Amino acid sequence: MSTNTTDNSRKVTTRRMIEMKQRGERISMLTAYDYSSAKIIDEAGIDCILVGDSASNVMAGNVTTLPITLDQMIYHAKSVMKGVKRALVVVDLPFGSYQGNSKEALASAIRIMKESHAEAVKIEGGSEIRESIERILSAGIPVMGHLGLTPQSINKFGTYAVRAREEGEAEKLIQDAKMLEEIGCFAMVIEKVPAELAARVAREVSIPIIGIGAGGGVDGQVLVMHDMLGINRGFSPRFLRRYADVAGVMTDAVGRYIEDVKSGDFPSEAESY
Ligand code: KIV
Repeated sequence: MSTNTTDNSRKVTTRRMIEMKQRGERISMLTAYDYSSAKIIDEAGIDCILVGDSASNVMAGNVTTLPITLDQMIYHAKSVMKGVKRALVVVDLPFGSYQGNSKEALASAIRIMKESHAEAVKIEGGSEIRESIERILSAGIPVMGHLGLTPQSINKFGTYAVRAREEGEAEKLIQDAKMLEEIGCFAMVIEKVPAELAARVAREVSIPIIGIGAGGGVDGQVLVMHDMLGINRGFSPRFLRRYADVAGVMTDAVGRYIEDVKSGDFPSEAESY
């Protein structure tokens, strides 16, 4: 039996996410990249599904999120949309699909919305991409911001360490968060920053702040599904709580299947025609 407090019947919309913040109801968010797992987590009652560019790491085996293309993101988003009835589905704009100029950003966001039927896009960055975000918003496409650790900029920062520990960077993050709220983003992810800073932003802006490695003082949490389910065992940052050992379950099941095939135990007569 589910122990969450979520209303499992109502479709989650961007507006409803904002109402959840206003009511003090925390928002649950996970990534998904395919039909079957999106269906499972939607039926389990997750509020928001992110078709993250982390697919580059956990689906394609790349070291960073940079190689994944817009076409590949659309492929994942289309598959996810087929499995989801209730959750709000947000799709990452991948590296290289919006940095050129705001027209390119809009064209990429339109492709995602038109081809996948997803409901919003997420985009990494603050003041430096304001014009692009505004242009996407002006087309009626809901935008989720993403501040703090922005993995698409890994080559600029050279590390995935905690961001905004010093005052200058923390101040910029606060200003960027206020800007994202002001221009009309419906929510934002804040990744890997001190908990106190993230909590301050959550208090000072009216749109939901979804944290990852940003402490408990924000309006919701997001994790990469493969990490929290223990499918991807090679990633263990302090902020990650593992809820299952799916890799262990799979290894055990596959091992028993191999044994049964080798011994001739599978298939049995009942499993044959
Ligand atoms: O791509 C992703 O999975 C993300 C989350 C880590 C927020 O952006």
